[in-house]
Amino acid sequence: MFGKQQVTIVRDNNIHDTSFVKLVKRFHDVKMVTVKSFCAEDFRRSLLIIIQVNLTDPEVLHPLKDKMSMPEREHTPVLFLLDEFNRREIVQANILGATDYIGYPCPDSNFIEIMGDLVNHLVEKSWEKLSKIQESALKVGLKVVENTFSNAAKGLEIIQDEVKESCDLIIKATAQDGLTDWMNAIRQHHNYTYRHSMMVCGYLTAFGMLLGVKKTDLQMLAVGGMMHDIGKSLTPLEILDKPARLDPAEWEIMKDHAKNSGEILAKNGWDEDMIDIAAHHHERLDGSGYSDGLKGSEVSDLARMAAIADMFSGLVDKRSYKPAMPAEKAIQVMLEAEGQLDIPLVKAFQAVALSDESKIFAHQK
Ligand SMILES: [Fe+2]
Ligand SMILES: [Fe+2]
Repeated sequence: MFGKQQVTIVRDNNIHDTSFVKLVKRFHDVKMVTVKSFCAEDFRRSLLIIIQVNLTDPEVLHPLKDKMSMPEREHTPVLFLLDEFNRREIVQANILGATDYIGYPCPDSNFIEIMGDLVNHLVEKSWEKLSKIQESALKVGLKVVENTFSNAAKGLEIIQDEVKESCDLIIKATAQDGLTDWMNAIRQHHNYTYRHSMMVCGYLTAFGMLLGVKKTDLQMLAVGGMMHDIGKSLTPLEILDKPARLDPAEWEIMKDHAKNSGEILAKNGWDEDMIDIAAHHHERLDGSGYSDGLKGSEVSDLARMAAIADMFSGLVDKRSYKPAMPAEKAIQVMLEAEGQLDIPLVKAFQAVALSDESKIFAHQK
């Protein structure tokens, strides 16, 4: 399937709790192997190896040790699931070269978190090759997106100034080093919420720079972009992470996220303009959008810009049910959405979409 990468699960014949397999399948293609059939190709092809075997059984341990010594193992994270989580198992997992281990069974949320950390480990390590300001913008952005979405899901406070500080780093990194390098780095990340929030934030930031907006408006575009889908923190996971297109009933539930985004920011006392971006990024000029069915001049310039950045980010991003669309084609699709999108703005956005940095930064000192 498009965009789904392989996770290999190594098992033996012992009885273990295997409920984690369906969780892994929600995010990745799963290949099940035995210790015997586990091979170098699995390391090469896999984003992550999960090993659930009896670590006290020499029949399993010796061949596994050989496989874990293969040179191909070096770049692939390996997670051990430990039945007993006792000292003996932990020592054994470490000797075998575990990247991490976890006592299993454990709550689904813990499992998803540790799996996410491991699959993103190499991507985040590659950020070291970026400039210092780009690296810290991506790192701080990751923490802020994770924290705000998790707090919003629990009904806890989300603080505008924290997001603003993180977006200031993004604005600085973009003004200093351009959009292309950090955006390419973001597109490799496996956390969709983070990837999409940062993409919309980056495209809106560059769009604002292209249009020569003043600093406070640039901040507002960046923050509004990062938080535009915060309402998805309330969308049920089986809909949000469904590895296929949504059916009409699920789609209705999904559409609630725009209204929820606006309400979450309003409840936390955020600025009106940011609430506008969050609540209205799916409005369309002909009134066919949601959540308020706004029409024509009722759709603000900010909401028009957010709709363009959001749609473009969606089109050029790969998902499990569709491939990534090239930027030129995405712009073509958007230019054909006449009546829905603000076409003069789409035309202006082309410079951002095609990374024409001389145009984007024309207004920057
Ligand atoms: Fe959205
Ligand atoms: Fe979005």
